[in-house]
Amino acid sequence: MTSQRLRLGVNIDHVATIRNARGGRFPDPVRAAHLAAQAGADGITAHLREDRRHISDADIERLSRELDLPLNFEMAATEEMLAIALKARPHAACIVPEKREERTTEGGLDARGQHNHLKPVVTALAENGSRVSLFIEADERQLEAAVSLGAPVVELHTGRYCDLRNDGDMDGARTELARIRKAAAYGASLGLEVHAGHGLAFDTVGDIAVIPELAELNIGHFLVGEAIFIGLEAAIREMRRCMDEARRGTARAPEAAG
Ligand code: PXP
Repeated sequence: MTSQRLRLGVNIDHVATIRNARGGRFPDPVRAAHLAAQAGADGITAHLREDRRHISDADIERLSRELDLPLNFEMAATEEMLAIALKARPHAACIVPEKREERTTEGGLDARGQHNHLKPVVTALAENGSRVSLFIEADERQLEAAVSLGAPVVELHTGRYCDLRNDGDMDGARTELARIRKAAAYGASLGLEVHAGHGLAFDTVGDIAVIPELAELNIGHFLVGEAIFIGLEAAIREMRRCMDEARRGTARAPEAAG
């Protein structure tokens, strides 16, 4: 299953992080979502964390009400989040592991080890009309576990690949990239729709975007940071350009490709 157009989901969590640094209403993540739509985003992603450190319940309500683009609701598999997702009925629900003390989502979900805990959550979300995605490591056993859970979509964690690139560990990055490529191909062969995300920036997105089985990338932190310098719309358009260039095979030879 090879996807033609690679969709870009823009994660707006860190617009809310900046707002919450001072309390109040500004900057408004819902306004960022509207701007992202104008800039060519195909979807909006928002993670309602247990500790509400960025996105709030009210943000999710407004996004559900106002947004024309599909909403990808990132959530931990808890009773509280399930109840919110069932009410909000987002287009997609991406189940992520969540630890209170982590700075960001550090690893993939253990879809295999947590089968019995995840199964009723996946089923309830799917029966409520949301397309369920599992955020996992690029690991064959996790892909097989997603199939046995009945999730139609997986999102492969690209955080380690990006960290290795940023640290200049090109050998490590090559190994990790090969793992992601292999997992994308295997996932697609199992009939899964395969997405990827975490930590992607202009210089790392090309190596991932070029993987033909990927249907969607979800990108947030870098875009919000880059918006400080060039504006959110320009940052999203440039990310879109990097993705399209990689897909067309016209990008510069990716440094870490191997
Ligand atoms: N995908 C998932 C499942 C995530 O949890 C996150 C971070 O919230 C992202 C993508 C986006 O990662 P980043 O903000 O590093 O681009």
